[in-house]
Amino acid sequence: MTVLRSEYLSSAWADGIFANRVLFITGGAGSIGSAQTRAVVHLGANACIIGRSVEKTEKAAKEIAQVRPGAKVLGIGNIDVRNFDSLKAAAERCVKELGSIDYVIAGAAGNFIAPISGLSPNAFKTVMDIDTIGTFNTIKATVPYLIESAARNPNPNPSGTTGGRLISTSATFHYTGMPLQAHVSAAKAAIDSLMGSVSLEYGPYGVTANSLAPGAIAGTEGMERLASSELTKEQQTKGIPSGRWGSMRDIADATVFLFSDAGNYVNGTTLIVDGAGWRRQGGAALGVDSDMTYPEFMLTGEISKNVKTGREGKAKL
Ligand code: COA
Repeated sequence: MTVLRSEYLSSAWADGIFANRVLFITGGAGSIGSAQTRAVVHLGANACIIGRSVEKTEKAAKEIAQVRPGAKVLGIGNIDVRNFDSLKAAAERCVKELGSIDYVIAGAAGNFIAPISGLSPNAFKTVMDIDTIGTFNTIKATVPYLIESAARNPNPNPSGTTGGRLISTSATFHYTGMPLQAHVSAAKAAIDSLMGSVSLEYGPYGVTANSLAPGAIAGTEGMERLASSELTKEQQTKGIPSGRWGSMRDIADATVFLFSDAGNYVNGTTLIVDGAGWRRQGGAALGVDSDMTYPEFMLTGEISKNVKTGREGKAKL
């Protein structure tokens, strides 16, 4: 599958800025993760992409490697971010085979549409485990390598090359609250907090740690699963100040910025890439159809029939 550069990278960046660097990314075979990896690999890095499915992860690695002749992209499947030991082994393998870990993206996430009344304790815990504990595990497994990378790459570096950078994929739901997303809001709020702590504790070693918070991004598995397919494009986007959903390139470009020499002094914060959408999300954009209004759908317990929630059976409440 050929993916045009314009789909995952703007023309703002010079080829080779990430030469001899290695990216370690969880969720790297997902839609946003693949675009982030393509962009960083295109600009010179090699990468290890980590995922639960062996087949999906290895296939994505092969496809992404095509963006640059000579690129090495290792797909390490059968790794669940909830299992620290397997993640640690993946990080060790990445360093053994590709030489280092200079950039990390904690991107693995789980989501579905459900009100609190439809969330079992295990459902809530599952998302906290994948998102928050998974991010913590990713940090623990890779931070020794990030410290080494930061030591090799002073910030700023006269050569313009960088290392020792960590990004966690966050969201914007928790800024205002979002009906049907209590589990993800709690998990992402914790991730933002964790990244602040990483910047405080590892900033002195030269590591930078930031959250990247995408808004609604077109063509992603997330929006495919969470947004009602019954809504027209206009209904989906008219509440967003920038007037459109984001593109995967928007997120990949923000990733490149944070990893690049241009992002040297950005540390311990969240980069929101959402066309100012969060400022207007007080109602509910996910899991609802055009004829569903707040608070009525909460009182009736209705959620859109036009979302792929991932649930097969009834909740064990
Ligand atoms: N609504 C409410 N609860 C749900 C649910 C839904 N749509 N889907 C799953 N759950 C519950 C399950 O019922 C289970 O709870 P229970 O044991 O009390 O019944 C719990 O969540 C765990 O589900 P399970 O399917 O065993 O977890 P998993 O680890 O196999 O899968 C998910 C994790 C649930 C997050 C799954 O949706 C997934 O794998 N998603 C990956 C892709 C993804 O979400 N990407 C995010 C893009 S934004």
